[in-house]
Amino acid sequence: VDRARDRDGDGIYEVAAIVGSLRRASLNRGLLRAAIELKPEPMRIAEVPIRDLPLFNEDIEQLGDPAPVRALKEGIRAADAVLIFTPEFNQSLPGVVKNALDWASRPLDGERVLAGKPVAMLGAAAGPFGTARAQLQLRQLLPHLGMYLLPKPEIYVARAEDKFDAAGALTDEPTRDQIRQLLTALLDWTRLIGSAG
Ligand SMILES: Cc1cc2nc3c(=O)[nH]c(=O)nc-3n(C[C@H](O)[C@H](O)[C@H](O)COP(=O)(O)O)c2cc1C
Repeated sequence: VDRARDRDGDGIYEVAAIVGSLRRASLNRGLLRAAIELKPEPMRIAEVPIRDLPLFNEDIEQLGDPAPVRALKEGIRAADAVLIFTPEFNQSLPGVVKNALDWASRPLDGERVLAGKPVAMLGAAAGPFGTARAQLQLRQLLPHLGMYLLPKPEIYVARAEDKFDAAGALTDEPTRDQIRQLLTALLDWTRLIGSAG
C-alpha cells in the first residue's frame, strides 16, 4: 500500500546510488546497471559520483565544501532513499566508501542529509563471502548516521566475476532475482518510513 508520498510528490521514488569502486570495469557498477534495469516502476536510480571527492580533511571543509562534496550532499538530499554498492577490500569497507560517507555525514547548509534516509546495500566481490564483512561494517555505521537500514534481503555476490558476461552485464539469474526483491523491499521500506515521518 502506498501510505506515503515521495518527497516531491511526483509518484517516483528517487534513489541515490553510491558505487564504492572507481575502476572502469567495476563489477559493483555492473550491479548498479542491473538494478537500473530491474527496478520497480515507481523508482528511479541515479548514481551520485564519488570519484572526485578529496580525502576528508576538516581544513578543506572549513574553506567551504568543494564542488564534488556539494554535489554528493545535494544528490542525497534530493533523493528519497540511498543504495550503496560496496566492494570489499582486505575484509573491510573500501576507503572510498568510508570517505564518501564521512563527507556526506557533515551538514549541508545546516542540514544532515543522511539522517532519516532509508538505505539499503549490496555488494560484489571476488571471494566466497561476497562483501559480507564490508557490509557488516556498514551495518554498524549507517544507523549511527541516523539512516534507516533495510534489514533484509541481504545480497552478497560471491565469485562475482563468474556472474557477468564479457560486456559487464549481470547474467546470473538468481542474483538478478535477489536484486528485484531488494529493490521492491526498499520501495516498501521508503514508503513506510515516509509515512511515519
Ligand atoms: C586491495 C584489494 C583488496 C581486496 N580484498 C578482498 C577481500 O577481502 N575479499 C574479497 O572477496 N575480495 C577482495 N578483493 C577483490 C575484489 O573483490 C575484486 O577486485 C572486486 O572485483 C572489486 O570490486 P569492483 O569490481 O566493483 O571494483 C580485493 C581487491 C583489492 C584491490
